[in-house]
Amino acid sequence: MKKLLLDVDCGVDDAQAIMMALASPGVQIVGITCVHGNTSVENVCKNTLRVLKVCQRQEIPVFCGAGRSLLGKTLNAERFHGQDGLGDVPDPQGAGLEQLQREGAVAALIRLANEHSGEVSVVATAPLTNLALAVRIDPSLPQKLKGLYVMGGNTDSRGNATVCAEFNFAADPEAASIVLSSFLCPTYITTWESACRNKLPWSFCDGWLAQDSEKADFMKRIFRHTMEAAYQDRFQREMVDGVGFVSCDSYAMAAAIDETLVTQYEEMAVSVELCGRYTRGMLVLDTVGFLPEQRNVFIMKKVNVETFKRMMMDALN
Ligand code: BDR
Ligand code: CA
Repeated sequence: MKKLLLDVDCGVDDAQAIMMALASPGVQIVGITCVHGNTSVENVCKNTLRVLKVCQRQEIPVFCGAGRSLLGKTLNAERFHGQDGLGDVPDPQGAGLEQLQREGAVAALIRLANEHSGEVSVVATAPLTNLALAVRIDPSLPQKLKGLYVMGGNTDSRGNATVCAEFNFAADPEAASIVLSSFLCPTYITTWESACRNKLPWSFCDGWLAQDSEKADFMKRIFRHTMEAAYQDRFQREMVDGVGFVSCDSYAMAAAIDETLVTQYEEMAVSVELCGRYTRGMLVLDTVGFLPEQRNVFIMKKVNVETFKRMMMDALN
């Protein structure tokens, strides 16, 4: 059984990724920690509980984490994910916050990594504030992890949240920097480009949402806002201009679930820009060996699209 600990800012694509993990028979989710990002951390907690309710998996513990970046900022993606983070679709039954664990996310990350030492991987599809705080409290945390899978960063200078930075890194550059430099466990990164270059055709999306299940019905409703926003957004125009749709977080999740999914990784030394006026939060790639401390990560390049499609279909089945 593959053990995963998820760190999310549950917007629509986090929901897709969580549902993929829930639907994978060989996966045990030992906990889900929530953090600011696409929306407020309170909404993230509610959304995560809502997804678990739709999937009838409320036994999985959910923990509330940081509501702001290490420097006290927030950056939301409400334009894409709606004000509530899940497309502003009313939730009449309301997944109540009373289901939330009393323990905080950072303490839970440290405890769960110890309890499942050597067996658990973290999948982080959000700003990395919780992980940065956890490693500051317990520097031995990364040694307990089998691997770290991150959706974040970009490999060219085109961002999706700022001119040069991808959303999860832009939302907390210091946290991204701390995590990349101190999580010395095997680290696999799905960058913005990794996701964009492995788009799925819109015709697949239609069939995916047309599945006859409550989960597909839920996804169809929460995904509408994102799709409409994507049409209007110049950074994501290519998402709609012919080639296909991108479920960023699902790629990082799929890579953690099925090691055969990624057919090509590129190993690179990386760092995160913290000072640039326009480039703050950008993932810096060192192809020449200039970085004073070399920290190699594996950047996703190519995926087996058929495997990914199957995993996406199963998530809503
Ligand atoms: C990332 O930012 C968020 O909006 C998405 O959930 C994803 O994790 C894409 O840049
Ligand atoms: Ca996310």
